[in-house]
Amino acid sequence: MDSNVAPLHVENVSKNFGGLQALLGVNLTLQEGERRAIIGPNGAGKTTFFHLISGVLTPSSGHIHLFGQEVTSKPPYRRAALGLARTFQINNLFPNLSVLDNIVLSVQALEKTKFSMFKPMTSYRHVYLRAEELMEQWGLADKGNTTVRNLSYGDQRELEVVMALAQEPKLLLLDEPTGGLSPAETATVTAMLSQLPRHITVLLIEHDMDVAFTMADRVTVFYMGEVLAEGTPQEVRENPKVQEIYLGSPI
Ligand SMILES: Nc1ncnc2c1ncn2[C@@H]1O[C@H](COP(=O)(O)OP(=O)(O)O)[C@@H](O)[C@H]1O
Ligand SMILES: [Mg+2]
Repeated sequence: MDSNVAPLHVENVSKNFGGLQALLGVNLTLQEGERRAIIGPNGAGKTTFFHLISGVLTPSSGHIHLFGQEVTSKPPYRRAALGLARTFQINNLFPNLSVLDNIVLSVQALEKTKFSMFKPMTSYRHVYLRAEELMEQWGLADKGNTTVRNLSYGDQRELEVVMALAQEPKLLLLDEPTGGLSPAETATVTAMLSQLPRHITVLLIEHDMDVAFTMADRVTVFYMGEVLAEGTPQEVRENPKVQEIYLGSPI
């Protein structure tokens, strides 16, 4: 794909925090509909990279384009308006509200960004119907009234993804969607992610190699702030440099 219209095109991006070089000269381009996993040891710069793409942080140098538009120093809401949504490594839910109310807030956020120029506020009924439709679609319908802090971690991760989907993204960033989950919960969340419609391009940070290699069309390996390797799951699995950083054992 022409990098001019790619969902994401990152060019020579670096980020330092004072003396610490968190990212150095990172390049990455996603094809429309692609599933890309980013793997790498703790501290490799993966979450920082997501913060740069979503606009939580600004790069020290380099350029970021979303759908052909330069967004390098644009605020997060401008990037969301272009079709970007993300989840956070740290739980970003409202723990004392119900599942339904959490989703309603996400649907409302979309209504505001998309329609506020045309009408003051879309009807609550419309917003609730959309929230209920999302719960139905993603298997949370029987948990609508459950207070979020009482959900299992697996359901909380799924809810985070549903809240991102409520924004009707074209590009979805998922930061460790299976982080802290049991094997059974990991399997449930992975199954959900594999059902995401292909018109959504997905970039996910994943610590679980099995999930990364199963979900992804291509894998990018971060190591000490740089891209160490990139390729199909098989190419990355067979890469000696990659094997070396994962304790010298085949992965
Ligand atoms: N806001 C910050 N201020 C200072 N250092 C940071 C900040 N965010 C991340 N870092 C550092 O940058 C490096 C990369 O962190 P991070 O992107 O969270 O890695 P990963 O997600 O791959 O584990 C780490 O050394 C981390 O301590
Ligand atoms: Mg991280």
